[in-house]
Order: sequence, then structure tokens, then C-alpha cells
Amino acid sequence: MAILGRNALLLLLLVCCISVCLAVRGRGEEEEVEEEHQGGKGGLFMLEKPKQVLKSEGGEFKVFRGFRRGRTATPMHIGFINMEPSTLFIPQYIDSSLILFVRRGEMRIGWIYKDDLVEKQLKIGDVYRIPPGSAFYIVNTGRGQRLQIICSIDRTESLGGGIFQSFFIGGGTNLHSVLAGFDIRNLATAFNVSEEELTAILERPKGGPFIYMRNPDQARRWADLMKLNHEEMRAEIARDENDDEDSVRDEEQTTMWSWRKLLNAFIGIENKKKRISAVKAPDSYNLYERGPDFRNNYGWSVAVSEHDYSPLRSSGIGVYLVNLTAGSMMAPHLNPTATEYGVVLRGSGSIQVVFPNGTSAMNAKVQEGDVFWIPRYYPFCQIASRSGPMEFFGYTTSSRRNRPQFLAGRSSILQTMAGEEMAMALDISLKRYNRFRGSQKEEIILPELLTRPETTTEPEIIRKWGEIRRE
Ligand SMILES: *[C@@H]1O[C@H](CO)[C@@H](O)[C@H](O)[C@H]1NC(C)=O
Ligand SMILES: *[C@@H]1O[C@H](CO)[C@@H](O)[C@H](O)[C@H]1NC(C)=O
Ligand SMILES: *[C@@H]1O[C@H](CO)[C@@H](O)[C@H](O)[C@H]1NC(C)=O
Repeated sequence: MAILGRNALLLLLLVCCISVCLAVRGRGEEEEVEEEHQGGKGGLFMLEKPKQVLKSEGGEFKVFRGFRRGRTATPMHIGFINMEPSTLFIPQYIDSSLILFVRRGEMRIGWIYKDDLVEKQLKIGDVYRIPPGSAFYIVNTGRGQRLQIICSIDRTESLGGGIFQSFFIGGGTNLHSVLAGFDIRNLATAFNVSEEELTAILERPKGGPFIYMRNPDQARRWADLMKLNHEEMRAEIARDENDDEDSVRDEEQTTMWSWRKLLNAFIGIENKKKRISAVKAPDSYNLYERGPDFRNNYGWSVAVSEHDYSPLRSSGIGVYLVNLTAGSMMAPHLNPTATEYGVVLRGSGSIQVVFPNGTSAMNAKVQEGDVFWIPRYYPFCQIASRSGPMEFFGYTTSSRRNRPQFLAGRSSILQTMAGEEMAMALDISLKRYNRFRGSQKEEIILPELLTRPETTTEPEIIRKWGEIRRE
């Protein structure tokens, strides 16, 4: 192996980079250029017409694309991965980070963490982050059970051109392995196997991105091929270039080191067995096991920030889950620091969004599977239909503690601004203002109004509030 010198190594890296670039451009051209979007038929802030990005017999990956509207760009796409029982989502890496939420079923995820393969068993309610450029695979381990995963796809890290770019380590029908761009002889040298064996491995599997597993160890075999990471290779090249300026004395050592690192990164032949347990996989975080942050008779909510689950910090994304009882409402509020995405997990209801100038932007009926987004600063509320509870899950574009500002209810800013100034601003007497703001005894999650009291209705106040802000 040592005979493969520094130049050959550089050449190998170069070829690899070219092949990665080609893969990206090839995909990019298929994507629609259209970015502007008027929102779905259901409303301005509904994400509709999911695009199927990957599909084969064993499963599918579809994505609700975020879009740009005026100057409001949505930094995230929302993906749904569905896998049949006993299937494998073959090893690949993606040019964006994924924050997975296991909605149904159970799974095992394997990925490269600190140069080691780590595996983690995940169950319903678990949240888990895969960093960009990290090769991973997913196995549906639920017996006879379908696996459903919701994930955020962070577009700020992407190479551009499309929704995201998958780099498959293995080939398959209609999938081109990133390795296919290499000269077969160099590659065989790199893997220290014969060309025949390499060809045989790269041509498998034939089933596309989601394949049925004949034996559970198959995933591990694939794992051997997945230690290829373009970030690492770029870093490696940069390091080699810098080293050129150093004295030649170190050259041999550097070359040896680079080579060993690369070889390790490619396959890690030596401690293949040990690797699985060598490094502890980062923990997952279960949304259902953690007690709610807020709970009353009308529902509960949980918000997970980087303080609860540190991997979120790297993505700058938060996660939340809300359950409203039939007819209840999440009080009108706005997010001062984040844009929010939501997926209806169960039940049905409506989402109301108000422009910052106080006019209605959307009043949409939603049901299970619908995806919506709410721009930062826009006041909104979610209301469960009377027929049953509504559960929704989602992401926010900040991993810090999100402090929503409530516009109604006992903890609203109308309570905080309890003085005459607010009454004057709303052009009502202080007495009336006090009666108005004191009439709702609940906070955050509010009960259904069965008979409407005769005071000014909330939407009216919000509209007035908007008018004031517009000044
Ligand atoms: C390559 O494979 C041969 C035969 O299996 C082995 O003896 C040799 O040590 C391997 N070389 C490296 C660098 O792994
Ligand atoms: C949500 O609340 C309803 C009752 O309103 C309850 O039946 C359901 O189990 C709750 N969902 C979760 C996930 O706790
Ligand atoms: C409020 O803002 C929206 C979006 O910017 C705009 O379409 C609408 O015309 C505005 N309405 C008023 C009354 O200013």
C-alpha cells in the first residue's frame, strides 16, 4: 500500500471531488428553478404538493419544500421517510443536517461519528440529529411494522441546486455511487481488494434506495463502504496543500498519516468489529417521555431546546410537540426569534395567521399529515376541531429557548402592559380594558368558547393592536 505515493493520493482525492461535483450538477439540473411560491391552495402558509425525492419497493422519501415568498425565505424543508418492514435505507450522506423524529415504528440508525461507526436504536417519539455530510443508514427493526420518520432538512448547509443532494455510497438501480467516479484500479488499491470484488460490491444492491434485507448483517457490510465523507476529503486536501509549505523533513510522516487516515475513513478495515462499540453513539431525546413544559385541562406542550438536547445547537433548530383537546386553542401568539414549522400528527383543526399589519393572512383547515409554517413575528393560533384532539409536532429555526409572546390569555403581553397607555392606545377606557384583559382566566392553551361574552372579541383587539404597531 505504501507504494501508492503522495501524488497518487492527491489524484485520488481530486478525482473524488470532481465526481462529487458532477453528481451535484447532474441532480441540480433536474430541479425546478422556481423558488417563488404563492403558498398552497389551503393557504399562504401551507406547504403542499410534496415532492417524491427517492422511492423504491421498500419505501419512499418525500419532501414538502420550503419556499421563498418576497423576502421571507424559509430555511427548511420538511421530509417524510416511510419504510416497509425489514427494509434498509442504504448508506448515503446528504448535504444538509437532518433532525429525525420517529413518528411510528422503531429503527436502528448507523452513522459515522468521530470516525467511528455508531449505531443507535430509536423508538416512537425519539428525536435524533444527523450532521451534514455524515454517512448513515436506517434499518426498520419493527417486527412487521411500518416505519414513519419526519425530518427537518436544513437548506442553509446545502450545496444548492436542489432540495438536497444524496451521495450514495453503494450503487443500485438508477443510483450512481459516488465511488463510481473513481478509476476502478485506484479504487481497488484504496480498498485493498480485487477489481472484481469491488465491482461486485458497488453494483449492489439492485433494489434502489430502500431495499428489503435478507439478513440483518447486510447493513453492517454496507457500513464498511460508507466511511467516505467529502468534507473530510476537502479538509485532507487543504491539509496536504498547507503541508507543502512545511519542510520536506515531515513529508514522509504526513503522507503516512494522511494515507492511514484516508484508508480508515474509506473502510476502517482493521478494527471493523470493534468499531461498532468503540464510541458511544450520541443519545436520542424522547418527546413523549419527557414531561410537558405546560399542561392544563385543555392540552399540553413540550419545547426542546439546545439546553435539553445539545445536538440541536449545531443545527440551530428547536423541536416542539403540542396536544390540544377537542375544541381548544393555542392562544394567539408570535415567535420573536424563530420561524416555526408544524406537522399535524393526529386530528384536525385550523391554523390562523395574521399579517404584522393586523389583517388576516391565512385561516386554513388542517388535518393529519398537513404541513404549515409561520414566519417569525407573525401572530398565529392553532385550534383543534370539536370532533377530537389535535396533536402537532414541529421545528423552530432557533435552538435557543423560544419565548413566544402571547397576545391573549392570563400570560399575555396585554397583562404585562396593564397600564393606561394600552387602554389609550386601544382607544377604550381603562375600566373596559381591565375587564377585557381579565376575562380570560386561562393561559397558553385556552378552552373553547361555548357562548361568546359580549366584550370586544379577540380578533378585533389583535387587529387594533396591529394597527398601533403599524404606526
Ligand atoms: C491488503 O490485503 C492483504 C491480504 O489480505 C494484507 O496482507 C495486507 O496487509 C492489506 N494491506 C493493507 C494496507 O491493509
Ligand atoms: C392527546 O390528548 C388526548 C386527549 O385530549 C389523548 O387521548 C391523547 O392520548 C394525547 N396524545 C398523546 C400523545 O399524549
Ligand atoms: C397587510 O400586509 C399584507 C402583506 O404584507 C398586504 O398584502 C396587505 O395588503 C396589508 N393590508 C393592509 C390593510 O395594509
